[in-house]
Amino acid sequence: MSYIDQLFGLEGKVAVITGGGGVLASEIGGGLSKAGVKIVFLDIHEEAAITAAKRIVDQGGDAIGLKTNVLDLDALKASRDQVLETFGKVDILLNAAGGNMPGATVSPGKTVFDLEVKDLEKVTSLNFNGTVLPSMVFGEVMSKQHFGNIINFSSMAAFQSITRVVGYSAAKAAVSNFTSWMAMELAMKFDGNIRVNAIAPGFFIGNQNRDLLLNPDGTYTERGQKVINNTPMGRFGEAHELVGAIMFLSSEAASFVTGVVLPIDGGFSTFSGV
Ligand SMILES: NC(=O)c1ccc[n+]([C@@H]2O[C@H](COP(=O)([O-])OP(=O)(O)OC[C@H]3O[C@@H](n4cnc5c(N)ncnc54)[C@H](O)[C@@H]3O)[C@@H](O)[C@H]2O)c1
Repeated sequence: MSYIDQLFGLEGKVAVITGGGGVLASEIGGGLSKAGVKIVFLDIHEEAAITAAKRIVDQGGDAIGLKTNVLDLDALKASRDQVLETFGKVDILLNAAGGNMPGATVSPGKTVFDLEVKDLEKVTSLNFNGTVLPSMVFGEVMSKQHFGNIINFSSMAAFQSITRVVGYSAAKAAVSNFTSWMAMELAMKFDGNIRVNAIAPGFFIGNQNRDLLLNPDGTYTERGQKVINNTPMGRFGEAHELVGAIMFLSSEAASFVTGVVLPIDGGFSTFSGV
């Protein structure tokens, strides 16, 4: 085996990806598959999970898609059993399920006092509980195997305040905090064999933010232009640009890396706006 393969090789690993039918997760799954990883896409929308898996299988990879709500412990356990029956182990868990809702944001002309509490609770639950519950179910599998890697999805909104976005920001800050807590917990109680890290994507066009950032003709909205002005690289990220970071965090090359939140943001988090 070459030195590069020893450090970064992922051939034969099994990755479970929540929110797997989404824009970023399906692209990441496709990238990992090219590195020889077997992919399990879990999504609340069965068709989205199956379509993402089919795309990989059509290109000669190994993948399945399962309908799974990340907020339903029983559904997660049923999917865990199916994954173990199909692939026998879980090397990598990517907690990509997440998103925002209009009622949990402060839209133009409104203030924080107009927030829809129900939507606020839904958004905080999806992003935070939706990370904790799969980490419990698949983390337990890893604890029995004595190996595994969990990678959470945080956000720029966890680092500094982003106008309008209340609930999502709080939940992603909680995801960053949980990443560091869970890294400590699993390293101390399971001999340092299970690592927990997060990525914090900058601004990528996904289903949850497309209408906020782009006009129907593809030009930037006013908010989209503000993001670009505050991103030193002057562009949105492309989903495939997350793959390398995920591969690094999942690989032997990162064997002493746990509890970090890695920004992948074209410099957004470094820039004061001046
Ligand atoms: N797009 C960005 O710029 C950006 C930036 C930072 C962080 N993120 C995070 O990256 C992740 C993926 O984002 P995306 O832009 O690809 O979003 P997306 O909307 O394309 O994908 C999210 C997926 O999650 C699924 N999902 C929603 N609720 C679920 C549930 N209860 N159980 C299981 N699946 C569920 C959806 O069906 C969807 O397929 C999210 O956690 C998001 O918060 C995105």
